[in-house]
Amino acid sequence: MPRGNILGVGSQHTCEERAPASGIILGMSPNQTGVPPRTVPGMRDLLPDETPTWGRLERIARVVSIQRGYARVVTPILEPTELFARGVGEATDIVEKEMYTFTDKGDRSVTLRPEATASVVRAYFQGGLNQGPQPARLWYEGPMFRYDRPQAGRYRQFFQYGIEAIGSDSPWLDVEVIEVAADWLAKCGVTGTRLQLNSIGDGNCRPAYREALRDHFRPHLAEMCDDDKRRFDTNPLRLLDCKKTSCTPFQVDAPSPIDYLCEPCREHHAVVEAGLKGLGIEYDANPRLVRGLDYYTRTAFEFWHVDLEGAQNALGGGGRYDGLAETLGFAATPAVGFAMGADRVVLALQRQGAAAPPPRLAVYVIPTVSDAALPAARLARDLRAEGWSVVLDAGDRSLKARMRQAQKMGADAVVIIGEEELKSGRVVIRDMAAAGQREVASEDLAREVDRILDSSAPAEGGEA
Ligand code: HAM
Repeated sequence: MPRGNILGVGSQHTCEERAPASGIILGMSPNQTGVPPRTVPGMRDLLPDETPTWGRLERIARVVSIQRGYARVVTPILEPTELFARGVGEATDIVEKEMYTFTDKGDRSVTLRPEATASVVRAYFQGGLNQGPQPARLWYEGPMFRYDRPQAGRYRQFFQYGIEAIGSDSPWLDVEVIEVAADWLAKCGVTGTRLQLNSIGDGNCRPAYREALRDHFRPHLAEMCDDDKRRFDTNPLRLLDCKKTSCTPFQVDAPSPIDYLCEPCREHHAVVEAGLKGLGIEYDANPRLVRGLDYYTRTAFEFWHVDLEGAQNALGGGGRYDGLAETLGFAATPAVGFAMGADRVVLALQRQGAAAPPPRLAVYVIPTVSDAALPAARLARDLRAEGWSVVLDAGDRSLKARMRQAQKMGADAVVIIGEEELKSGRVVIRDMAAAGQREVASEDLAREVDRILDSSAPAEGGEA
């Protein structure tokens, strides 16, 4: 991917995908032999100009989760295929078309996780968390994999921050989960988001709603796309979600799931709405919002971004999934959660001009003679002990070249130790912003660095 084009994923994938399977050595097709390897299509490196923003999102995810009693869980990236086929649902786009599935050397069908909810539910039972305090409040982050068409905001490896609260059917937990997502987005500094809220009922009331949807779409089916013709039988809720112009006109008057909710679902939804209103969390009631995964019951929500393109405008989403544990063969256990797409949030922040700055480099230490290397290393170590980030450049390039490097790396101060300084026990320290330098005794160096840092902006650097 060319540097500077963080979204340059689209152009790479076609030629590699057309390459014949035979003769492929380590992922290179024959006509590429000798060409240096590149990332797999739809996957990208996160380079140092972006990673400070990623680091910030991760830190905020940790803070907002821990603040509400959520504990971190890390599940494997590779899981038995069956977990997602049963959990996410056979009739979903994810399971039908988007999974990275292969047979391992033990002849097991395994899949790179396309999402983490099914894994977290598995871990909750397998790890005995179902025996602990309920609900179990869990959070996670990490890469997910979907073989979708790569484009801006849509990748084949992408990153999610998510939480799952497992073991309670209280609607207040739905409110809590939505509030965590809203708080994370706000603390990350994303503007222009809209919360979309719906309830899609449960096993009691959904069958009648499905039939009402079929009755509505049946007369139009001939004009609708092939995917929708299939979904009509397998997954009629998804008919509300198709983005094709052949299908969208028929969605306008479709029946609303809210009108079909049974009494318990209606009451649950009323508490969720009242809770959000009471906390001042604005939302759009969106009767067309159905999620792309099969496990949802009752509450479904997404956070949309007003400026991101069409299908990529969902910064994250989630909902209640009271039937998932049972579908996977565990004891019936109600749960609710969300996953936010970090790639899209980073993209939104970049477009807002709100990407995080690189970490602040306080001091760049340059020994100008070889005898000064060890004293310089000691000095660098002492400065780091003060909590500053310090680079030691004991290379043999000219002083000028190394000064230029310090400038490029954004160092606030440069410390120079040469022959004279070794003899005198004093060092030269240069204030890069003020472009002035002075000699100080080694024992006064920390104080001088402190003064320079205080006087130069910005006060806070980013994080990696
Ligand atoms: P999801 O809606 O499939 O839900 O994904 C959540 C978010 O992940 C999306 O809103 C989007 O921001 C991001 N995302 C999904 N696919 C891609 C992609 N190809 N490239 C970039 N970002 C992407 C789930 O995954 C559920 N597990 C959420 C959940 C948790 N529900 C209950 N608990």
